[in-house]
Amino acid sequence: MKVTQIRQAYLDYFAQKGHQIVPSSPVVPGDDPTLLFTNAGMNQFKDVFLGFDKRPYNRATSAQKCIRAGGKHNDLDNVGYTARHHTFFEMLGNFSFGDYFKRDAIQFAWELLTEVFKLPKEKLLVTIYADDDEAYEIWNKHIGIPADRIIRIGDNKGARYASDNFWMMGDTGPCGPCTEIFYDHGPHIAGGPPGSPDEDGDRYIEIWNNVFMQFNRDEAGVMHPLPKPSVDTGMGLERIAAVLQHVHSNYEIDLFVNLLKAAKEAVDAAGGEDCDATSPSLKVIADHIRACSFIVVDGVIPGNAGRGYVLRRIARRAIRHGYKLGARKPFFYQLVPALVREMGEAYPELQAAKDKVSEVIKQEEERFFQTIANGMEILDSALAGGVKTIDGETAFRLHDTFGFPLDLTADVCRERDVTVDSAGFESAMQKQRDQARSAGKFKVAQGLEYSGKPTQFHGYDTLKHEGAKVTALYVDGSAVQSVKAGDAAVIVLDNTPFYAESGGQIGDRGELRNDAARFSVEDTFKIQADVFGHQGEVLEGELKVGDVLNALVDTQHRTETMRNHSATHILHKALREVLGDHVQQKGSLVDASKTRFDFTHNAPITTGQIRRIEDIVNAEILANTATSGKVMSLDDAQKTGAMMLFGEKYGDEVRVLEIGSSKELCGGTHVSRTGDIGSLKIVSEGGVAAGIRRVEAVTGTHALSFLQGLEDSIHQAASILKTHPGDLVHRVTQLQESLRQAERELDKVNSKFAASQGDELASQAVDINGLKVLAARLDGADAQVLRETMDALKGKLKTAAIVLASVQGDKVSLIAGVTVDSIAKIKAGDLVNFVAQQVGGKGGGKPEMAMAGGTDSTKLAQALASVTDWVASQ
Ligand code: ALA
Repeated sequence: MKVTQIRQAYLDYFAQKGHQIVPSSPVVPGDDPTLLFTNAGMNQFKDVFLGFDKRPYNRATSAQKCIRAGGKHNDLDNVGYTARHHTFFEMLGNFSFGDYFKRDAIQFAWELLTEVFKLPKEKLLVTIYADDDEAYEIWNKHIGIPADRIIRIGDNKGARYASDNFWMMGDTGPCGPCTEIFYDHGPHIAGGPPGSPDEDGDRYIEIWNNVFMQFNRDEAGVMHPLPKPSVDTGMGLERIAAVLQHVHSNYEIDLFVNLLKAAKEAVDAAGGEDCDATSPSLKVIADHIRACSFIVVDGVIPGNAGRGYVLRRIARRAIRHGYKLGARKPFFYQLVPALVREMGEAYPELQAAKDKVSEVIKQEEERFFQTIANGMEILDSALAGGVKTIDGETAFRLHDTFGFPLDLTADVCRERDVTVDSAGFESAMQKQRDQARSAGKFKVAQGLEYSGKPTQFHGYDTLKHEGAKVTALYVDGSAVQSVKAGDAAVIVLDNTPFYAESGGQIGDRGELRNDAARFSVEDTFKIQADVFGHQGEVLEGELKVGDVLNALVDTQHRTETMRNHSATHILHKALREVLGDHVQQKGSLVDASKTRFDFTHNAPITTGQIRRIEDIVNAEILANTATSGKVMSLDDAQKTGAMMLFGEKYGDEVRVLEIGSSKELCGGTHVSRTGDIGSLKIVSEGGVAAGIRRVEAVTGTHALSFLQGLEDSIHQAASILKTHPGDLVHRVTQLQESLRQAERELDKVNSKFAASQGDELASQAVDINGLKVLAARLDGADAQVLRETMDALKGKLKTAAIVLASVQGDKVSLIAGVTVDSIAKIKAGDLVNFVAQQVGGKGGGKPEMAMAGGTDSTKLAQALASVTDWVASQ
């Protein structure tokens, strides 16, 4: 049966059982903000399940276009590596809206599979949700499946209902327990049954999921029963096609065979010459053209956010795989006609939009081909020399400069067994955002011309000022006389309690309002030394120059920022106390969530030092002394011994801040007593440049949340290890010890294995003028086993020249050994190279023992066979 026929047979079967055939909905859900892409057949019926919508039918069936490349259900990373994952697939489904329930759903599924599709019953097994006894009874008693082929799957993901057999559409929405039907592709394929440790193999493939919709999950995770129990099923068309066409991989079904052929032709024509027809990269390309095309059909174009970014990531992943096969110019768009041939009839919208689809994909390809070569070069050099992790900065540079989405970099790394530092990537990205933010603000402030009265700042004493007058208004960098609701604007006031960003402390947020208007302040910055710009948006009404307003600072935001700022002073003092007087401030950023402090010091701070620093700061906090800020002349300030920043320009009048035992010049806003800080916890320490370290710390409730987060991790780790937190260290030590022991056992087994192999192989040696020659394969053996076997064989054969080879994937490992009495005649290095050259590699070593590697295992048998003649000719 061809894919087209299977799709039709499914729909016909359910139509004949009273189901309405409903066309697929678009892959971009029209009115569901909780979904990035349509990910299941039930999506278009979500409101019907929830009881918000009614249809003229209560049974439906469909073949639904689905995308699983972002959001809750994401298979992108697996595509190309397994036989059954796709970014785009078709889901065949039947649905009951409060009509039939478990018994009929199971009966229909079984009848279709075994009587219409005629699958052998003994090749099917099923899973059910652990406590779904009703489903168990139906399968066992009614259908007659033996108990050992009904597997109960419980909550295996750490929470109630977090189970492979409890299906949820997303974080919210309809959900319920499910029963899945698996097909056994046979023992020649690796993998175990569902629920077993090897379940991820490709032997047992889930072909059909029957969900018994019973609940609506809300944002807080609470399950509300649905008005009527319902049924939602989903069968992957590609998977059932593989079963019915007697092939194991989805990529061998008729539809994919044709797409793979088109992919190879397109890649070859773009520079791939005669690329390897079995390469997983072609599968990636054949898969991704479906996702990309159907997403474009629904109006999305590649971009840098949301759905557009998912589309870009999929397209670029496909392009990179083509590049890997040798393509050096756009090729991907050329698969569109082949796709239309395969799927245009079932999905007329694809047929109709085919020119647009080609054009959009081609443009994206042209854009990416401009940078891919340089990006790959950077990546290749970063990966050279056996690194195990690629750093976040490089991954970010690839993203930012060369258009490599993070998962594309990860895809390349995965091929080479390297991981990506994604946390480092995130922080590099954040750093750039911060920089762009301050650069942007600087530009805004720079462009504004102002010649009115300076702003009087009252924010040391109050967070609210009544009767502030608007002295200037700006929109898009130009002065204006009035602004109205919806305008993004900058407002200057004659008096304000808002702190303008300076001295490392960020600007205040809050609101300006009078009876006629409301303005939300998102940031405050200095236009000139004493002119404050309040940046934000008019929420309501109209504002004119001269209007009078009340200015209200966001109290929580400011309080949290003040805690962090005051804590920074004490921290600075404590750093000097613990690390030494060479510590000098080099930069700081204080906002509501944390304080970041850079200073001179040229070694990592030890855990012990961090503890001492934290202890000093927290002792000062607990002492709860009053803080004070006094304005005085610079001369007087110097006399107080207050800390000043070297190289900083101060005015004639300065503010001396005393917080606990710290005394510093500072214009920032601070808490009134040290106890207001609550507590301080250092959360990170690291180097930022030569001789400069950075610490980040949190205070107040943020310190508590940080510790609670750690506590959660400890609890989680303890529960994974089935112990309690107090015993965690002991348990981990125990596990490490048993791991070490297991490794030792394994070593022993390996050695025994080598020795026993040695006996068997020794008998295969050929005698050439008294020299025993042996060339043999020892698959699965690692370098150590090869060496040990070699030693054992040498001992046994006494006078010998030996080559052993093992193959893992495409990689060939070789070892050659010559007994000491024969090294005058034959050198192990020459021998190993003679073989290695024939399998695309080289190597070397001592006259008695040499190792080599190769890449072409297909030539190995011949290479080993040539050893005897070579030895004889020496
Ligand atoms: N909605 C169910 C699934 O996608 C059938 O597995």
